[in-house]
Amino acid sequence: MRVKEEIIKIFENSRGEYFSGEELASRLHVSRSAVWKAVRQLEADGYQFDAASGRGYCLRPDSDVLSKQGIEKALGESVSAFDVKVYRTITSTNTVLKEMAANGVGEGTVLVASEQTAGRGRMNRRFVSPSGTGLYLSILLRPKLHADEALFITTAAAVAVAQTVEEVSGRHAGVKWVNDVFLNGKKICGILTEASLDMESGGLEYAVCGIGVNVFPPDGGFPDEIKDIAGAVFDVRPSGDIRNRMAAGILKRFMAYYRSLPEHPFFEEYKRRSVTVGERVTVLGRGEPRSAVALAIDGECRLVVRYDDGSEEALNSGEISVRK
Ligand code: BTN
Repeated sequence: MRVKEEIIKIFENSRGEYFSGEELASRLHVSRSAVWKAVRQLEADGYQFDAASGRGYCLRPDSDVLSKQGIEKALGESVSAFDVKVYRTITSTNTVLKEMAANGVGEGTVLVASEQTAGRGRMNRRFVSPSGTGLYLSILLRPKLHADEALFITTAAAVAVAQTVEEVSGRHAGVKWVNDVFLNGKKICGILTEASLDMESGGLEYAVCGIGVNVFPPDGGFPDEIKDIAGAVFDVRPSGDIRNRMAAGILKRFMAYYRSLPEHPFFEEYKRRSVTVGERVTVLGRGEPRSAVALAIDGECRLVVRYDDGSEEALNSGEISVRK
């Protein structure tokens, strides 16, 4: 580990505690000037320190920088299930993780970014991923699942996100079929699960589950293209290292659900949280948009709708999206 990584681990494990340059240098077997150089680099990365003469530096409890060390600390005992890599900026955590999956990295590899320059959503849409205000992460899975069951990965992630949002904000989060988490009528999170098929077995070679959360609104608000539908978990930036804690909360819950994917015990909760069922929707993705009422989510996670002419259909999320 480089000096900078070692130092942030020490500070993250003891936020609010002071460490002198001398102490850090002797712990890490480096010079004091190497320590101060690393602290300067960390400040340039956005970490906020308090300095006191004679005591050294402490990482402020409200310093909010996404970091491997911060996420791993918040993961606690679950840390061994993941190999977390954190990026300040990346094209798309899904795109990069798929490349890594093709090169053989293992299940539990997680890419987390503070900004995406080419974030992607379902139906080839762009996922706006501004710097410093959101959480963009992808998890690599190598499940022994048939492709049809892969949808339960998305539903497990949606429940994990909704529960984590509720824990940190105290506000009830709903799920819009199939992959969006909503708070107060606004989309605060989108989920994109992409899989590679093993053609011989019909099973999955791997799946990448990508989760994008708007934690608080960007300065100047969301861009025009999404400003009417997008919301954030918090109306203003909260104090504390909220994004590291949210990343860990989502990962922990998701992994627990993933382990019981074939029985999918979280699916009842997914349905209970639905903000789609019972609502009028517009069905998009196949020719002309059609107006319908959403009746239910069936056991295969299809949305059962009744069109205005009285006909009913169970919609598969692969080809369809709905607008409320
Ligand atoms: C959607 O709203 O249609 C799904 C959005 C999924 C966004 C996440 S952010 C992390 C991961 N990387 C991406 O490029 N997309 C997913």
